[in-house]
Amino acid sequence: MAGVATLRTITPFGHALLLPPAPATTPGAPEVSLYVEPQWRRRGIGSRLLATVREQTAEPRLVADVAEGTPGEAFCQRHGFRHTRSRRHDLLTYCDVHRAWLGELVDAEHPGYRLTHWTGDLPNAPRVEELLRSPSRPGNAVLTAADANGDLAAYAVAVVGALFEPRARQYGPAVLPDHRGQQLGRWVNAALIQRLREVHPHVNEIETAAAEDDPHLLAVREHLGFRFLRRTHLYELALP
Ligand SMILES: CC(C)(COP(=O)(O)OP(=O)(O)OC[C@H]1O[C@@H](n2cnc3c(N)ncnc32)[C@H](O)[C@@H]1OP(=O)(O)O)[C@@H](O)C(=O)NCCC(=O)NCCS
Repeated sequence: MAGVATLRTITPFGHALLLPPAPATTPGAPEVSLYVEPQWRRRGIGSRLLATVREQTAEPRLVADVAEGTPGEAFCQRHGFRHTRSRRHDLLTYCDVHRAWLGELVDAEHPGYRLTHWTGDLPNAPRVEELLRSPSRPGNAVLTAADANGDLAAYAVAVVGALFEPRARQYGPAVLPDHRGQQLGRWVNAALIQRLREVHPHVNEIETAAAEDDPHLLAVREHLGFRFLRRTHLYELALP
């Protein structure tokens, strides 16, 4: 096999549902991902794969997430993709997390707020409140939320990959506007890190991405032990 193209719907947690929303990227646009083996590159295979994807989709837009300064970026520019925004990816490794310290963060009082958890498989268009009302069951997602008298205040989600894959992906934390300034983001994120390990003990690292211009979110993650992994650029292609 010389190359492969995949098209997948972006988990809406990464875009539409997280606050603040990501206005530069069309919510729900599927993500195209192309890979050509190095020895087969620059022979037009990537272009043919993209042309085939374009022929077979009725979607008005495609999104691609490519590492900065790579052939993927040159390829996107060559094919008329528009750069919409940059994302910073961070990684947390469980062996760098001091469990007692994490436990203290989770157990800290946040008067008026309560932590809840949900586990299961994410439906196609997840709504956080509905998930929290539904019973937990075995699945690839863990959702941790803080609520004030039943009103959702903050949440964070982690999704594990294929069976026994050690790296999970995290979306959030997101704090709803009326509840900001009380460190709820840090609280739900710490609780998610703790819970994820209990539910999926094989997970030993968590990758997460954020817009570069979200210093508050980046500060929360850094405090919890996430470290810079790589930078990617989101590109969008409008289809005729
Ligand atoms: C990106 C990728 C799929 C391109 O595959 P490819 O088969 O080499 O692509 P093509 O031969 O069709 O290239 C088409 C054009 O893209 C541009 N391009 C591709 N690779 C490039 C490179 N390394 N440097 C500069 N321009 C490049 C060129 O304009 C090229 O046309 P040219 O060869 O006539 O100059 C391949 O490099 C790859 O698998 N990269 C790793 C995965 C990745 O980044 N995917 C992101 C795309 S969603």
